[in-house]
Amino acid sequence: MKLLAVLGSPRKKGNSSLLLDQYLKGIREANRDADIAKVYLQEKNIRHCTACDVCHTITPGRCAIKDDMQELYGLFAEAAMVVYATPVYWWGVSAQLKAFLDRTNAFDVPDGTYFAGKKAALLMTYGLGLPNKGPELVAASFGEICRYTGMDLIDVYGICANKAEPAAENAKALREVYELGLRIAL
Ligand SMILES: Cc1cc2nc3c(=O)[nH]c(=O)nc-3n(C[C@H](O)[C@H](O)[C@H](O)COP(=O)(O)O)c2cc1C
Repeated sequence: MKLLAVLGSPRKKGNSSLLLDQYLKGIREANRDADIAKVYLQEKNIRHCTACDVCHTITPGRCAIKDDMQELYGLFAEAAMVVYATPVYWWGVSAQLKAFLDRTNAFDVPDGTYFAGKKAALLMTYGLGLPNKGPELVAASFGEICRYTGMDLIDVYGICANKAEPAAENAKALREVYELGLRIAL
């Protein structure tokens, strides 16, 4: 079974990446034959959606912009599960992840089967301590996205991580997120 994991942080080895790696490690252990693609969005050329609507009119389900999303559309379409990992930026997702999410709008077509039935997971890191509306807002928007698209949001996990308390030093969180991955049957 295929899994697409998208890393929204510009920091390739930052807190969100570490959380994602632990989650994927658990999934790999529980699903030895899993085909996992971890995509670092920062190094991809992903242009902003231009709302040209070609994907909903002339070529339903297919985006007209020829950039690295064309490869990611293929990975997304084939995946049984999509894992989104992002730092909270200004009470939302990172710009890298937002650009990716907007471009998946191409798959929002009436007879499309691009989203429905896929498992989804959201991993977040945020710098401000709790209570913190940032992770709540991001979790709420993913709840809505998944409700609308028919994706099954099976995990939402977030931790506070900053320079004083990097994820790498949060053994409890790294174990917890690994254990979440371990329970997943792809
Ligand atoms: C541009 C920017 C905006 C941020 N906005 C928030 C925010 O709204 N709320 C919050 O709790 N932390 C915020 N942070 C802190 C990051 O979410 C946090 O440090 C996170 O762990 C960084 O993840 P990374 O190591 O994967 O890049 C922000 C950081 C940056 C650079």
